[in-house]
Amino acid sequence: MRLLSLALPVLLRLGFARATFTLNQVEDQISSYLDQNETIAERSLSQIGCSVACGFLSFTLPKRLSYPDTPNYEFEESRYWSQQQALTRPSCRFSPASAEEVSLAVLTLRLTQCKFAVKSGGHAAFSGASNIKDGLTIDLINLNKIVLSADQKQTSVGAGNVWYDVFKYLTPKGLTVIGGRVSAIGVGGLTLGGGISFFSARYGWACDNVNNFQVVLADGSIRDVSYSSSYSDLYWALRGGGNNFGIVTRFDLATYPQGDLWAGAKTFLYTNETAAAVNNAFYYLAVNGPSDPYAQTIVAYAYAQAQGVFVIATDLQYGKPVANPPIFQNFTSIPGAIADTLRVTDLPGLTIEFNNTNPGGFRQSYWTYTVGNDPDLMAEMVAAYMDEVNKIKDAPGLVPSAVYQPITTGMTSHFSKNGGNPLGLAGKGPFNVVNIAISWSNAADDARVLAAGKNIVDRAVAAARARGLDQPFLYQNYASQQQNVFASYGSDNLARLRAISSKYDPAKVWQKLQPGYFKLG
Ligand SMILES: Cc1cc2nc3c(=O)[nH]c(=O)nc-3n(C[C@H](O)[C@H](O)[C@H](O)COP(=O)(O)OP(=O)(O)OC[C@H]3O[C@@H](n4cnc5c(N)ncnc54)[C@H](O)[C@@H]3O)c2cc1C
Ligand SMILES: *[C@@H]1O[C@H](CO)[C@@H](O)[C@H](O)[C@H]1NC(C)=O
Ligand SMILES: *[C@@H]1O[C@H](CO)[C@@H](O)[C@H](O)[C@H]1NC(C)=O
Ligand SMILES: *[C@@H]1O[C@H](CO)[C@@H](O)[C@H](O)[C@H]1NC(C)=O
Ligand SMILES: *[C@@H]1O[C@H](CO)[C@@H](O)[C@H](O)[C@H]1NC(C)=O
Repeated sequence: MRLLSLALPVLLRLGFARATFTLNQVEDQISSYLDQNETIAERSLSQIGCSVACGFLSFTLPKRLSYPDTPNYEFEESRYWSQQQALTRPSCRFSPASAEEVSLAVLTLRLTQCKFAVKSGGHAAFSGASNIKDGLTIDLINLNKIVLSADQKQTSVGAGNVWYDVFKYLTPKGLTVIGGRVSAIGVGGLTLGGGISFFSARYGWACDNVNNFQVVLADGSIRDVSYSSSYSDLYWALRGGGNNFGIVTRFDLATYPQGDLWAGAKTFLYTNETAAAVNNAFYYLAVNGPSDPYAQTIVAYAYAQAQGVFVIATDLQYGKPVANPPIFQNFTSIPGAIADTLRVTDLPGLTIEFNNTNPGGFRQSYWTYTVGNDPDLMAEMVAAYMDEVNKIKDAPGLVPSAVYQPITTGMTSHFSKNGGNPLGLAGKGPFNVVNIAISWSNAADDARVLAAGKNIVDRAVAAARARGLDQPFLYQNYASQQQNVFASYGSDNLARLRAISSKYDPAKVWQKLQPGYFKLG
């Protein structure tokens, strides 16, 4: 028994084994690796669980494990978008290249009680979301396969891909999937949180267009989770449940024909008059959007610190190569743009344009709230945003924006596809989902910047409530760690998510051993 089990790490090291193991088998392996008369539990109690986990995985799969101050570790650390995450230092980083290797890591982490985090594209802003101080970070970077099915109706995407690589592969074939709008965003986090795409008015959010999730569960098993599988409850939970139900190793995505778009941004200096025209155009697009689901918009109010002025960017996207379609005329007729990038473009090019306006390396904070669609309320929300920004406008490197997007009834009509999702919005709307996104340079300004973010949200929500236009929904992909995302899905959905979590993860591996990001509470 002992001899046989001793052979397993050797087999793994030589790359022969593509098997999954049970918890007992891995316990045997770690014990033989430790080669001492101390139990793993004793070791973990003595606070060195992660040194055992890192050491065992390094011994078993040496190419996948990296320690601080080595090139691979430092390269992966540099790939987080926010400074807060990039400065978080795990004891080691593990970069599995298969679902089986993810499974081995999960069982090892359980046995050693080493706390961990999981990273896909690393664009979650706050510290601990996809990196963990003194724990083990699983970086999915090597799960990078992209495979189109023979009938061209499904693309299987490894969970460590960023959207640019997926779009670059599909665009020349005249195809697309429902994914992110910024090239460097990860497939993993965006999809598990919901996922607003340029094509969501036609197809719903990214989570509504996953045919099948390949998932490593807390017991180390690897399952295919689809609506028609015996895991349809888990399938529902994964469409917005974040990192609470397993590590998704592959997303099988519904694939659609798609050519060029007409898209870009018109940017204006802020004036009350221009703002009123923009807010009016936004309101009518949110109402009339379902009449032309090729049209979508992102309206961003921002502060240009160097010039000391507020600006308004109206991003328009039309899913066909047609210039200035009638649905956008309330936007395109607004006079006085200081910049205009509207043109026919392909999807990869458009996502690069957005990536360029969202550079990495800064301190970052994201906040969210959702309200009813109303231009007067929007003006009040903008006024609160400007007032709070004025209080912190001297913070070096400050780039604060208030980003407004319609959730149309066209979009939410897709939220009940294949058994629905847990977001609690199916068939509802139109709403305005708001993202307060602030970046700045120095940690010394953290407290006052975060306070401003919270004030902007609190004042906007109060203004909405006064008009009877407040909504509970908090969009996970835009939320601050101070916001209670899963409670916002509604009490029935939260209860169901908790029940599914208990069923598949009675030991609370994803809740407790993986402490970062939004938990079921
Ligand atoms: C510049 C920018 C642009 C954005 N644009 C959009 C947009 O167009 N539409 C939109 O909806 N959102 C957008 N977002 C929000 C974005 O969706 C979230 O930040 C999302 O969490 C990023 O995913 P990621 O994989 O890059 O992040 P990560 O930080 O790697 O992951 C986020 C969370 O998901 C978990 N996770 C990731 N992959 C897996 C997996 N395979 N299995 C289990 N858990 C996993 C991580 O553990 C972590 O907790 C944008 C954000 C930024 C910063
Ligand atoms: C093994 O156990 C014995 C007795 O409990 C103890 O004296 C010894 O130090 C232990 N050895 C190691 C390597 O921990
Ligand atoms: C713009 O509107 C705000 C509040 O709505 C008001 O306080 C301000 O005076 C207006 N500015 C101009 C130039 O009219
Ligand atoms: C543009 O705005 C006007 C009101 O100002 C509205 O009547 C019209 O329906 C809007 N057009 C579109 C295409 O939404
Ligand atoms: C996105 O922008 C960053 C710079 O902030 C750059 O390093 C990265 O290569 C870009 N990624 C993609 C996929 O465009």
